Amino acid sequence: MELEVPILQTYVDGLDRVLGGGIPKGSTVLVAGTPGTMKTSLILWMMHENARAHGTKSLYVSLEQDMDSLKAGAARMGMGNLHESSVYILDMGQLRRGLHRAEGTKDWFTIIIEIVKEAVNSSGYQVLAIDSLEALYALSDLKTHRREMFHFLGSLKELGLTTFLIAETPFGSTRLAQWGEDFLADGILNLRQVEVGETEVQLRLRCVKMRWMNHDHNALALHHDGEKFFVSHVISKKK
Ligand SMILES: Nc1ncnc2c1ncn2[C@@H]1O[C@H](COP(=O)(O)OP(=O)(O)OP(=O)(O)O)[C@@H](O)[C@H]1O
Ligand SMILES: [Mg+2]
Repeated sequence: MELEVPILQTYVDGLDRVLGGGIPKGSTVLVAGTPGTMKTSLILWMMHENARAHGTKSLYVSLEQDMDSLKAGAARMGMGNLHESSVYILDMGQLRRGLHRAEGTKDWFTIIIEIVKEAVNSSGYQVLAIDSLEALYALSDLKTHRREMFHFLGSLKELGLTTFLIAETPFGSTRLAQWGEDFLADGILNLRQVEVGETEVQLRLRCVKMRWMNHDHNALALHHDGEKFFVSHVISKKK
C-alpha cells in the first residue's frame, strides 16, 4: 500500500496483495464480466467476509435474481449465514412493493438513489452493490445515457459508500461498459472465461484499474474450493 487510504479487504486469498492492499473505501468499482463468471458470488463473498471480520453492513440491490435464489447460491459457496442484519439483499419484488408511489413518475436511477440514501441513513450501510447496470438500463427510459450515468455515479459517490456496479459483458465483446462507466469508475475488475487447451476453461480475474493503488495488471485465475475464494497464477491450477 502506498497511501494511507482506508481499505476494504476482499478476503479472496491472494487478491488483496495483487490489488496493492485491497479496495480503497469509498471507491466505485465496476465488476464487469461475461455470464456465469461468479460476479454475484464474488461481491457477496466480500460483503459476507467483511461482516464476519468487522461487522460491516452491506446492501445488495439485485435487479434480476431474487433474494431466495441469491441466498441459495451463496449457501453453496460457503456463505450459509448470509443474514440480513449484515448483508441486506433488496430484490425487485421488494423494490416494487415499496414503490407504487414512485414508479411511473420517476426514473429508476432516481428511485435507486433515493432508496439507497434512505437505507444508508437508517441502517448505516458501508458497502453497496447494484446487480446489474444492464438490468437498470432495461428498466429505465434513458435519453442521454452518458450524462445520466455521470449524474447517477456522482450521486452514489456522494453517499460515501464503497460501491460495486456489476456489468454484464456479452461473450466476445471487448467493451467493458456501455456508457462510459469504465472511465467514470475508480476501479475495474474484469472477469472472463478463457479456454485453456481444447477442453479446459479457466475463470480469470484482472484488475484493469484501481485508482490510488499500485496494483498488478496481470490476469489471475479465480477459484472457489467449496469454502472460500482464492486466486492463483494462470498457468497453475492450484494455489
Ligand atoms: N466452486 C466453484 N468453482 C467454479 N465455479 C463455480 C463454483 N460454484 C459455482 N460455480 C459457478 O459459478 C456460476 C454462478 O456464479 P454467479 O451467479 O455468481 O455468476 P454471475 O457472473 O453472477 O452469473 P450471471 O451472469 O448469471 O449473473 C455458475 O456458473 C456456477 O456453475
Ligand atoms: Mg449474477
